[in-house]
Amino acid sequence: MNKKMLEQTLVLIKPDALKNSLTGYILSQLSEFHTGLRFAATKIVHVSKMLAEEHYAEHKGKVFFPSLLEYIMGNLHYPEQPEKHRVIAIVYQGPDAVKKMRDIVGPTNPHIAREQKPGCIRALGTVVPIKDAAGNVVGERMDNLIHASANDSDAEREIKLWFKPNDIPPFMHAYPTEASKEYYYMKDHKLSMKEEPGSLCFIVPGETVWKSDLETLRLLQQGSSAPCTLETVVAKYFINEKQMG
Ligand code: RTP
Ligand code: MG
Repeated sequence: MNKKMLEQTLVLIKPDALKNSLTGYILSQLSEFHTGLRFAATKIVHVSKMLAEEHYAEHKGKVFFPSLLEYIMGNLHYPEQPEKHRVIAIVYQGPDAVKKMRDIVGPTNPHIAREQKPGCIRALGTVVPIKDAAGNVVGERMDNLIHASANDSDAEREIKLWFKPNDIPPFMHAYPTEASKEYYYMKDHKLSMKEEPGSLCFIVPGETVWKSDLETLRLLQQGSSAPCTLETVVAKYFINEKQMG
């Protein structure tokens, strides 16, 4: 398959969309009939703090960052019901996947979406004030129902963050993979190559992994600086693990 046909993008149907029963509507808007794109992978994810922080790493330090984490983790829409904390993560594939999804999703801010692009998915979202402890408004939170990767490099980073190669059918792999020759463990947020009390194994020999993740792990193992953090690699291996919270 040529590179254009293999173009992929990550879509997240966020907790506010699930709460408002918009899932079916959104999926039909994104269907192959409307977009020409196909499912490459999908999973229901209870978003851990680690995954939320990695996904939104570019926003770390901004006033809305803490509420953004709470939002994607489901804490805001279901404060008392952890069993409802989930998002639907989907990889779509096909020509111009990134642009087509961004177009149908619409502008980040739902007020602007309604003004500039009535009918787009985010036109159904809402904007909520963020208050400090004293009740003063210090910013705003955008409950915009859906995420779609902004460009090809974000799509690659995000798909590798949320999905293991084997979550995706083999003929739909867009990025290089490699079979691991080693066991990899994490203990206290540090990489380890041997089993110790309290360590968690996340890769076993023979397992198909993203090649770039193995390169990162090798660099981290040598103590060298790596293109991304250990958490960026491991987050997907701990998706839906109860001990990750
Ligand atoms: P997304 O990543 O969710 O697809 O959204 P986006 O590319 O359109 O916007 P981005 O700048 O990546 O922001 C990610 C999410 O953070 C919240 N946000 N709040 N208060 C603000 O100024 C602000 N800016 C962004 C939104 O929920 C946005 O979807
Ligand atoms: Mg974005």
